[in-house]
Amino acid sequence: TKTLTILGLESSCDDTAAAILRCNGEGAPDILASVVHGQADLHAAFGGVVPEIAARAHAEKLDICVEEALAAGQVSLSDIDAIAVTAGPGLIGGVLSGVMCAKGLSSGLGIPLIGVNHLAGHALTPRLTDHVTFPYLMLLVSGGHCQFLIARGAEDFSRLGGTIDDAPGEAFDKTARLLGLPQPGGPSVQKAAERGDPKKFRFPRPLLDRPGCDMSFSGLKTALLRARDSVVTEKGGLTERDQADLCAGFQAAVVDVLAEKTRRAIDLYLAETPQIPLLAVAGGVAANTAIRARLETVCSDLGVQFTAPPLALCTDNAAMIAYAGLERFRLGHTDDMTLVARPRWPL
Ligand code: KG4
Ligand code: ZN
Repeated sequence: TKTLTILGLESSCDDTAAAILRCNGEGAPDILASVVHGQADLHAAFGGVVPEIAARAHAEKLDICVEEALAAGQVSLSDIDAIAVTAGPGLIGGVLSGVMCAKGLSSGLGIPLIGVNHLAGHALTPRLTDHVTFPYLMLLVSGGHCQFLIARGAEDFSRLGGTIDDAPGEAFDKTARLLGLPQPGGPSVQKAAERGDPKKFRFPRPLLDRPGCDMSFSGLKTALLRARDSVVTEKGGLTERDQADLCAGFQAAVVDVLAEKTRRAIDLYLAETPQIPLLAVAGGVAANTAIRARLETVCSDLGVQFTAPPLALCTDNAAMIAYAGLERFRLGHTDDMTLVARPRWPL
């Protein structure tokens, strides 16, 4: 059987990434290389991702990522059979840089170009890492997204519900900013929360009184701001203890909401799909150990299989883009020079 070597590029937010996958025939691919250059240090002073700075850094870093991936995978450019690239959704400057880089490589090497939806990249990751078969239930939780999907095919997803305002990753990042903890907020809030008392401050559990699996996280950050200000007014500042307790309370609220909404999503999934259910989580927030542990408990209570990709493949990376590209390629779907970068692109 013929081997297929595919290069993936990702530049839709604040990570520039390149990865190389190789597979034999219809087999599962190996990840030969996965290089990620984060931009956290560039945006640190601004308290969030600055689109203009991100776009410039992607443009500068993309070819370096490709070179590093080729070197790490011991692959030469002439071995590459196809190029997959994130074509959206995301910050348009970064997505454009990636798409232009991929078009250049595709036309220069005379190989197929495959545009990939970033969300499909996250949503298909469990198939790359755990060889999960369709259909499955997917919770996609990241800095920009939060939704429950039924994945029926590489290009066939249906949405059961999701956030009506902020994504949880955004709420983690804002929490960190309000408490003076470093960005990205998810890991630093998780770390502080491990030392805190989740009952010290009481945070709301929004939308639990409503049916379905829609969620809301913007009220949580307002609650956090109020709790922080009341401590500051009372004591003149925040101690490390207060930071830890606020983080623990905040994280416990996110965990409770995700757990309860996951139960409901499983019910909705079972109503539509008779197969033995499997829940997969992906996206940067799925790296959170408290969230993972709780979702695992929910699933084992309900007799549902649970899987979560390794941490490095939960956050933004190009291996997931190369893989989603491979799945499209296998369906016979490729793009050409008319491929456009899309800031918005629902699954
Ligand atoms: O998927 P991702 O790398 O980028 C997109 O948003 O597409 O997700 C990044 C988000 C950030 O908001 C980051 O704070 C969050 O994932 N995150 C976490 C953790 N690690 C990363 N949130 C909670 N706990 C974590 N351990
Ligand atoms: Zn992402």
